[in-house]
This record gives sequence, structure tokens and C-alpha cells, in this order.
Amino acid sequence: MSVKKLGRGVAVVGAGMSKFGAFPGKSSRDLFVDAFQELRASVDKGFNPKDIEAFYLGNFSADLFEGQAHLAPIVANWIGLSPIPAVRLEGACASSSVALRDAILAIASGAYDMVLVGGVEKMTDLPIAKVTDTLATAADVTYEVAAGYTFPGFYASMAVAYMDKYGATPETFMKVGFKNHENGALNEKAQFGARIADVMESKKRRAEKKGRPIPTWESEMDFLKDNRANPMIAWPMRLFDCSPVSDGAATLLLVSEDIATQFTDDPLYIIGSGAASDGALHSRQTITSIPAAKIAAAKAYEMAGVTADDIKVAEVHDCFTVAEVMASEDLGFFAPGKGGAAAEAGETARDGSHPINTSGGLKSKGHPVGASGVGQVLEIWKQLRGVAGERQLSGDINLGLTHNVGGTGQTCLVHIFERR
Ligand code: COA
Repeated sequence: MSVKKLGRGVAVVGAGMSKFGAFPGKSSRDLFVDAFQELRASVDKGFNPKDIEAFYLGNFSADLFEGQAHLAPIVANWIGLSPIPAVRLEGACASSSVALRDAILAIASGAYDMVLVGGVEKMTDLPIAKVTDTLATAADVTYEVAAGYTFPGFYASMAVAYMDKYGATPETFMKVGFKNHENGALNEKAQFGARIADVMESKKRRAEKKGRPIPTWESEMDFLKDNRANPMIAWPMRLFDCSPVSDGAATLLLVSEDIATQFTDDPLYIIGSGAASDGALHSRQTITSIPAAKIAAAKAYEMAGVTADDIKVAEVHDCFTVAEVMASEDLGFFAPGKGGAAAEAGETARDGSHPINTSGGLKSKGHPVGASGVGQVLEIWKQLRGVAGERQLSGDINLGLTHNVGGTGQTCLVHIFERR
């Protein structure tokens, strides 16, 4: 595998996101306005939106979620960017990372100097059964969905195989959810901005108010093992192992490296971009790791000239807790089979050797699928610039990585960012 360098460097000079959650009455375009307004305020030296030359929008399925296809020109118009080229890119839950990569390549090619990239999804208008059916269209409809598979089912299968192969237990995965809720509680944009302990307290208060017996959990793990509090979705994945159904948008302003300091003295340089594809889950040799993620990571590391050990913070695709464990291995942070034990030992917590999902991840921050990849970059932007507030990592946080998976791993992208 030989990885070519970018034709010229690309930098992030602005970033914004809407809150993630459920927002009845807000459409994709409204959510994107929230993100764009925050982006405008984030560019230290300001910029003129009229200088944006193209718009790349990641979106999985506004067609099915909102009955609206052809979304990019509509959003572009809504934020005042017409008539620049506006294109929507789809790669399931990795849609906005696909858009990010194409935006990077467009600047690197010299075609543009300034590009807006973003992602959006509005999922909560549909009832849950329809959301599940819509998400399932990202799998192989002929050979998997027709046999009854749903996304919780796919990742449950991976979790069972992982437990069988490496001796992990359902508690291994619960620890990942626990950690991501601890982080998400410090993120004002998170859908579930609550620690498990806070969720327990609120459920106890609710029971008391309704005159029901007050639950007697003694610890967070007690709560997570309680079938009523944390019901099984697809064994061994329970409610608190699943990312939620979410609405949200996120956006970045990209420019060519040579003009970056016109916009800020503190740009984030994109030094690695790797992408790969694969067949659907049923056709793979292994389901305890995601081969396309490994390939995307290897390409991104090679382009960046760094290794897994150099990465100070990573936002990875934890659509289900088992996915975070596999990602931590596919990215090379831990050896195959060791990611579960590392998570249990606290190695992926904010004070661990490999902090993962300091934003709360998709589990706690939310997973508006088309927005999630660019949403991950927002956390890297904050951590590398030292403005992540209470969840800010200590030390010299100069290299960050995002890992975004579409479907069960048919589309995977890894990006690496540097603060110089
Ligand atoms: N984690 C923790 N709590 C959750 C949650 C989640 N993922 N999803 C919902 N809840 C909570 C709600 O806040 C609500 O709490 P309350 O009773 O205290 O108010 C309760 O659970 C019920 O919420 P509801 O919206 O009715 O849940 P649901 O049964 O409709 O959906 C799932 C739950 C797990 C089925 C849904 O979140 C899901 O499908 N997640 C996976 C999404 C997915 O596959 N994404 C693509 C990945 S590749």
C-alpha cells in the first residue's frame, strides 16, 4: 500500500455544531443554521461567507427521515451560500467524514481555497420502528435485512463473537457506556448530558414522586445490570450500550494551509486522511474487528507520518459500546483482544493512556448519523486548542484522530489533525 501526500496542506479554521438531541419542529436546515452560526463566531479573525467556494454536506437519508432528498442546495440556500456548488454525500453513519475527505481533496487539488463541509440528520420525526428500518437500509438489504437483521442485532452479533473469542463479558461493554456518560455529562451539546449516577438519582426521584418502590441500586454497575433500568435491546447490548436516535448538525470551515493564518493564529492542520470500503458484515472473514477501519487507519497514519502511540485524543465510532472496543484495537491503540480489558482498566478514560470519546461519544453526545463524523472533529478542535472546558485533557494535546464507520464497516474513514 502506498499512500500519496496531499497536493497541498489543508487546515480547519472554524467549527460549529448544533446541540444534539430531539428537537420537534426543527428540520435539517434549521439545525444546520445553528451549527453555521456557531462556526461564524468561531473564526478568530472573521471571514466573509461570500468567499466560500463550495459546500459538501454529509447526510444519510433525509429522503426517508424527512421526505426530503437533494438536501445540499436547500441547506446552502438557507445559510445564504447560493449559487456556489453544493453537493450531498452519503456513506451511512460516515456520511460527513466522506464529505470531509472530498472537501479536503478538493482544496488539496487546488480547485478551491475555502470550502464549507458539514453533516446533518433529523431522525426523531419518525417512530422508532421506522427509524430502525431506515437505518437498516445501510446494511445489505437483500442478504441481511431480509433475514431479520437490524443495527442493534449486527453489533450484538459482533459483541457475542468478541466475548467468545477473547473472554470479554457484558460488563466489559457496560464500562464503556459508563465512561462515555461520565464524559458526556461535561459536554453542553450532548443529548444525554448525564452521568449514570445522575440517571439513577433521577429515576429514584421519579419513583418516589409516583409512590412506587424506590430502587436500591448500590452502584452504577448495579443499575446497568438491572433489566428494568437498562433493558436488553439485542443480547448482550442493552439500552446503555446503544447510541440514541438523534437530531443534529455540525460544520467546519476548511482553507488551504497557506492562507490559514488569515483566519486564525491557531488553525488545526489535517495531516492524515484514510478511507476504505468493504462488503457487508455477512460476507466478512471476521466480525471481531472491522477490516476497512484498519486499512483506513493505516493509510491515515502513513499520510500523517505518525503512529497510534503519537495520538493524544481520539473520537471513535461507538454506535454501540462493542464498536468502541473494536475501534480501539483497529486503530492500534491496543492489541487485538486487549481493548476490552484496557477499557475496564480505565485506559480510555480522560486520565488514561489513550483517552477516547472525551465528548461523550455517539453513546452520550448523540448520533445524528449524517452529522456524527464532523461532530467528532468538533471535539478534536476543542481538545487540541485547549478549550474543551471541564473535560479538557491535560498535557500537550497536539495530535487528534477521528474514526467514523458507515453501516457495519462497509465505509470507514480515519482523519488525523495536528496543532502546531
Ligand atoms: N441510551 C440511554 N437511554 C436511552 C437511549 C440510549 N441510547 N435511547 C433512549 N433512551 C432513554 C430515553 O431517554 C427514555 O428515558 P426515560 O424513560 O427516562 O424518559 C427511555 O430510554 C425510552 O426512550 P425511547 O425513545 O422510547 O427509546 P426507544 O426504545 O424508542 O429507543 C433504542 C431505544 C435503543 C432502540 C434506540 O435508541 C436505538 O435504536 N438506538 C440505536 C440507533 C442506531 O442503530 N444507530 C445507528 C448505529 S450504526
